[in-house]
Amino acid sequence: MESIDWSNLSFGYMPTDYNVRCIYKDGKWGDITVTSSQTFEIHMAATCLHYGQEAFEGMKAFRGKDGKIRIFRMDENAARLQSSCRGIMMPELPTEKFNEAILTVVKKNERFVPPYESGASLYIRPLLIGTSAQVGVKPAKEYLFIVFVSPVGPYFKEGFKPTPMAILRQYDRAAPLGTGRYKVGDYAASLVAGEKAHELGYSAVLYLDAKEKKYIDECGPANFFGIRGNSYITPKSTSILPSITNKSLMQLAEDMGMTVEVRQIPEDEIGTFDEAGACGTAAVISPIARIDDLDENKSYIFSKDGKPGPICEKLYNKLRAIQYGDEPDTHKWITIVE
Ligand code: PLP
Ligand code: COI
Repeated sequence: MESIDWSNLSFGYMPTDYNVRCIYKDGKWGDITVTSSQTFEIHMAATCLHYGQEAFEGMKAFRGKDGKIRIFRMDENAARLQSSCRGIMMPELPTEKFNEAILTVVKKNERFVPPYESGASLYIRPLLIGTSAQVGVKPAKEYLFIVFVSPVGPYFKEGFKPTPMAILRQYDRAAPLGTGRYKVGDYAASLVAGEKAHELGYSAVLYLDAKEKKYIDECGPANFFGIRGNSYITPKSTSILPSITNKSLMQLAEDMGMTVEVRQIPEDEIGTFDEAGACGTAAVISPIARIDDLDENKSYIFSKDGKPGPICEKLYNKLRAIQYGDEPDTHKWITIVE
């Protein structure tokens, strides 16, 4: 096998041995098949290509000290994919089928699950696309579900080190009653703003709500949370993705005796936060060093010494310990791959 530098992986695509697929046709889901092909043929009028009738997911598998492979919150990802399906009129993939596909693809690519010591993980990317031809704006009749995997390191190259983020008021990620709450193929809407932020030296864009430009929404690829005193505060919004990492952190914060607040967060309030972070499967917790509102010439500073705050660190360590099997899985978040 080619040698992989497990400890220095970035977040990217690496070919693995197999991916799995499942076709929806004539009103029903077929069997799961395994292939080593990384491509497929598709009709030029497929709805995913023109109208973005596509949903995806993201989760991770971790290798523990005991050598066992643990998948984090698989059922939650199955449920969110079903919600995305309802959001853009695709047939819901049953949870059992989803789980079977995930377990199959992880087992088949076991040799790509990074070793415990590396701190890396196996990213699992399920996607569901409309494949049959339409020219009018209508849902497809046929669909393809694929799951591939890739060993990954941190999403932001700095890893668990605070980075600056930017508010760019001329861009919106998602509309208040649009598809921002689903994990669907509309991420192209965030590419220009993301690129601009990178050019200016920021790790990501922190979006405000699109209607009033008053409240914090989320980052391009992750939810936002702030810490003030003993409170974990995270936005309530119809245009953000319900992050499974954020949901888990809220539970862990509660377990630590913190108060959890899910509500609108006016931009000005972030100036009162002791700590702030972005959270997601890929991002894990990415502490935020500073948020610059470039159009309003305002800056909110959370870390001056280049170190994460103590609560971010505690939450990060707890989450990672559960994911790698170092601490007991008291909330039944883990599926061990047998
Ligand atoms: N927000 C957006 C827009 C995302 O793409 C993601 C990534 O999945 C998240 C938040 C974090 O969600 P999760 O923690 O379920 O990965
Ligand atoms: C994830 O965290 O799983 C994501 O999907 C984020 C990003 C890569 C879109």
